[in-house]
Amino acid sequence: MRLRDTQPALSVLSTLLSLTPTPASAFYLPGAAPTNYKFGDKVPLQVNALTPADIEGTAQVHSVYAYDYYHPAFHFCAPKDGPKWISESLGSILFGDRIQTSPFVLKMGVNETCKPVCKRQKYEPDHAVFVNQRIRQGYDINWLIDGLPAGQIMKDLQTDTLYESIGFPLGSGVDGRPILNNHYDILVEFHQASKDAFRVVGIEVKPSSRGTNKYISEDKAECGEEATPQYLENNAPTEVTFTYGVYWRSSPTSFATRWDKYLHVYDPRIHWFSLINSAVIVVFLVGMVSTILIRTLRKDFARYNRLDIAMEDLSGTGVAEDGVQEDSGWKLVHGDVFRPPKHALLLSVLVGNGAQLFMMAGFTIAFALLGFLSPSSRGFLGTVMIILYTLFGFVGGYVSARVYKFFGGDAWKQNFAYTPVALPGIVFAVFFLLNLFVWARRASGAVPFTTMLLLVIMWFVISVPLSVVGSWLGFKARVADPPTRTNQIPRQIPPSGGYMRPIPSMLLAGVLPFGAIFVELYFIMKSIWFSKVYYMFGFLFICFGLMIITSAAITVLMIYFLLCAENYHWQWRAFGTAGASAVYVFIYAMIYWVKDLSFTSWTSGVLYLGYSMLISFLFFVLTGTIGFFAAWVFILKIYGSIKVD
Ligand SMILES: *[C@@H]1O[C@H](CO)[C@@H](O)[C@H](O)[C@H]1NC(C)=O
Repeated sequence: MRLRDTQPALSVLSTLLSLTPTPASAFYLPGAAPTNYKFGDKVPLQVNALTPADIEGTAQVHSVYAYDYYHPAFHFCAPKDGPKWISESLGSILFGDRIQTSPFVLKMGVNETCKPVCKRQKYEPDHAVFVNQRIRQGYDINWLIDGLPAGQIMKDLQTDTLYESIGFPLGSGVDGRPILNNHYDILVEFHQASKDAFRVVGIEVKPSSRGTNKYISEDKAECGEEATPQYLENNAPTEVTFTYGVYWRSSPTSFATRWDKYLHVYDPRIHWFSLINSAVIVVFLVGMVSTILIRTLRKDFARYNRLDIAMEDLSGTGVAEDGVQEDSGWKLVHGDVFRPPKHALLLSVLVGNGAQLFMMAGFTIAFALLGFLSPSSRGFLGTVMIILYTLFGFVGGYVSARVYKFFGGDAWKQNFAYTPVALPGIVFAVFFLLNLFVWARRASGAVPFTTMLLLVIMWFVISVPLSVVGSWLGFKARVADPPTRTNQIPRQIPPSGGYMRPIPSMLLAGVLPFGAIFVELYFIMKSIWFSKVYYMFGFLFICFGLMIITSAAITVLMIYFLLCAENYHWQWRAFGTAGASAVYVFIYAMIYWVKDLSFTSWTSGVLYLGYSMLISFLFFVLTGTIGFFAAWVFILKIYGSIKVD
């Protein structure tokens, strides 16, 4: 609390404003420029929030909260003049980074075996209970040394490769009595770039618990044995001395490749397998849709044209009415298919917002693919997403207005007003409510109030005006007349049964877009809830493409069946058909909860549920929009190529 909360937001502003690179670092992305140290120079060690990690052996996460490093109950040593906030980007803050300075002194190339971090720390029983609870939940400490996250070297048994896993445990003894790690051996690898330029290229922290640590003076301590671990008593105050050692090792790793160890592909075979799996689904589906449609449509066109000729012949003899009765299939609804749907305003607002999301997702993935969003530029991904979303408010407004005009709507003021407010409003409201929980827990995952304020300002000052301009242009733009005229009186819709009923048909169709993405979803979930680095943007890009194709293809097929059943309410059906894949995303999130997460507090569950619902809803709007546009184009095409008198 105090000043701390306001600090990050101020630095956010300055970071946002200074996103344009200065000439000196023009060739580096933010955060990617190397820092050269001379021998003996101080290398900064910064501390980030403590995050829940998967407990070894169980692969389960027990909490979703992150805790501020200087949360009073932890009693971690702070710098003498108090910790200072490090400036961070907006994305970095939203994704949970809370970086501050620390009292650790690391001098380039100078080994230290045992130094005290600060004077003895006294844990009162209530704080001891709190810390023991966090140890049982498997919390990890996160440090940054020269911008590189500290971690532990692990071995992937499947591929037999070494990789660095970010973070190191606060304590251990998960099953028995918790012990606190109060000694850290910090191994830093450096690379000598030139005579007087040393760069940090690797970090490993080996924490241990030493109950016999002794504080002697400001920079002298006696480090105890690991044989007698440090317990925190639940019924009497415990005194703990934190110590550390620093070991520098020369390494051939160059600065440019220092992130490679972190980017560990867990099992590339699973990835390729899933990708091929999805690709097969897509090829099969697109093949099926195109053969069915091309064959039957060709037959339909031929039949309709024959009927036309027959009718022209018959019209001379006055028996045309019987000829019309012969007609069947989708042509019959030509006088109704362009009838505006119910709740046209809501649908146009959703489609507009979906288009905005689509542009944001597409551009973010493309940027990432081109290597603009390397993990070294911390939080850059999140920042780019937010900026793109804000700017694409323009697209949202334009699309929403165009669609609404096509529907022949007249509540223009509402359309202009709801489009920029609806979806961001829902997202923001949910986000705000969930944040209240985190605030109530006094955990640090809560987004500071000032950052929230900044988001609202960006939304109202940039996104809303852009959206209104877009809406106005969309409103002014000429909308081509639909290829067939709409009849005065709506046609009766014959009852349809079985799989053509709305819910079964949507659920049936929704499986396919979900099938295209579900393995990638696993990795995304892992990176969100296990705080792992996500970087497989190549896979994500292909999955995104496959998802678009499957959503479009399955919607076109279902809408064709719908029209053949003489049902012309295609607009919402198309949106729901592709959007139904969101139901599966939600179910997937729930299965993931049961399998990989086991929360020890109900508020963690509420947070998880809330975020899962939010993500599923966004996915619904995104895929629904893809389905709607695919169906729209399809219908314009087929009704444009038949003759109607
Ligand atoms: C510092 O420690 C590392 C790791 O134990 C060792 O390889 C290196 O030689 C030491 N450096 C000095 C100057 O003693």
